[in-house]
Amino acid sequence: MNKKFYITTPIYYPSANFHIGHCYTTIAADAIARFKRLLGYDVFFQTGTDEHGAKIAQKAAEAGVTPKEYVDKIIENAKDLWQSLDISYDYFIRTTDESHKKSVQAIFKQLYNQGDIYKGKYKGLYCVPCESFWTETQLIDGKCPDCGREVKEVTEEAYFFKLSKYQDKLLDLYEKNSNFILPISRKNELVNNFIKPGLEDLCVSRTSVKWGIPVDFDPKHVIYVWIDALSNYITSLGYPNKDSELFKKYWPADIHLVGKEITRFHAIIWPALLMALGIDTPKQVFGHGWLVINGGKISKSLGNYKDPREYISSYGIDAVRYFVLREVPFGADGTFSEEALINRTNADLVNNLGNLVNRTVSMAHKYFNGKIENKKISENYDNELKEVVNNLDKVLIEKMDGLKINEALDELFEIFRKCNKYIDESTPWVLAKEEDKKDRLETVLYNLLESIRVATVYLQAYLPDTASKIFKTLNTDKKDNNNKSFNEDNSYNLSEATHLFDRIEVK
Ligand code: MSP
Repeated sequence: MNKKFYITTPIYYPSANFHIGHCYTTIAADAIARFKRLLGYDVFFQTGTDEHGAKIAQKAAEAGVTPKEYVDKIIENAKDLWQSLDISYDYFIRTTDESHKKSVQAIFKQLYNQGDIYKGKYKGLYCVPCESFWTETQLIDGKCPDCGREVKEVTEEAYFFKLSKYQDKLLDLYEKNSNFILPISRKNELVNNFIKPGLEDLCVSRTSVKWGIPVDFDPKHVIYVWIDALSNYITSLGYPNKDSELFKKYWPADIHLVGKEITRFHAIIWPALLMALGIDTPKQVFGHGWLVINGGKISKSLGNYKDPREYISSYGIDAVRYFVLREVPFGADGTFSEEALINRTNADLVNNLGNLVNRTVSMAHKYFNGKIENKKISENYDNELKEVVNNLDKVLIEKMDGLKINEALDELFEIFRKCNKYIDESTPWVLAKEEDKKDRLETVLYNLLESIRVATVYLQAYLPDTASKIFKTLNTDKKDNNNKSFNEDNSYNLSEATHLFDRIEVK
């Protein structure tokens, strides 16, 4: 049986249409999911939307519609966006799904019945836009440490989760699983800022919020939106039915991919809840950095971004995918700008990859009517190319295991650079002039096509649209896990060259 791999994105707030920052997490998760599928894993890739809470209710009221009507529209838009970015998710969960709501109520009740949730009084400082409660010491200049906005004091009867009880167990979890929180800097931040000062019990219900999942045995209380949201990762698999096929097969998650500001919810509250429920904790929480624009957060209110589909229609799906995957070391913050996207596209996609495929295929058509076999007239330097091609599997697996996605792509594009260099070294146009060099010329073209083919097998994980165009031109079905190394005995009967990328003129 294939090994399984369960990867999730955060479930996004449908408070407004999604921007390139949301695309960032989702494209990265898609590339990882596709890469694992390529290696033969049985992958479950989940994304979705986190639809409850005061902020959404407020937005809906402003728009003069019900919260459900409000989110339905945004979700339709989000699904269209994911389709236009070739996102290969297996399941899209909505926290307004009936099955999710029932499961969250059951989880809450179980924790209450076993004493991990109890009733008390809450007095605290609440940030409405972030749906977060803060203690006085966590505020920065008296404001929300996440978004910098005003917080307000709230007192209410509420249910609490005994988070404090799990302090040592959490430290133990981090200790025993050094990869549980990555990058490592985020782990140190969490331990020093949140765990070491002492975990307080967490308020997990609100009476002030109406748009949410009610506590079924005390319905004036609505379940705290983060308990509702985090549970999505197991309710989608059928939990609390532990015998559900999906749950048995895919839980625990292999990676929760999240932005840095929500790492603490995933690495503290979530594993503590799971420990309380007596089920396995996820294997890894990876907190990536933010894409920023002009040094600041991408923000609707600042109006500093376009609908991501505008970038797709101007530059193409894979220019956008490539940019977000390649430009920024995964984990760190990075800048998004159209200028940088254009430069990346022209340098790597047009000059390197597009040019290589175009040159190679054109020569194969020109000299051999597109029919190429390996005549095995080799030179020593051929082996250099074959070696890097055959090493790709090992290198990429290592990079992707460490979620060094940008480095993985760089290694992959190194093959295309090497192939371009190989063309310069072997000078096919010179060989073409000499009748007795015909077999060498065909070998050179074979080596190029076969190297491009192998690299394109992997390219499917990152740039699926481009990979499928290249395979169409190569006219081959050798695209899968069993065809990842340089084969001396393939042959090619090429289709017409498809144009891969247009050079983008800077306006
Ligand atoms: N609903 C919660 C997540 C619940 S998961 C159980 C939430 N939603 S969000 O819509 O505000 O953000 C979702 C994700 O998008 C976060 O991981 C966040 O870091 C990411 N991004 C939002 N803007 C971003 C950038 N500008 N850059 C990179 N990622 C960004 O939090």
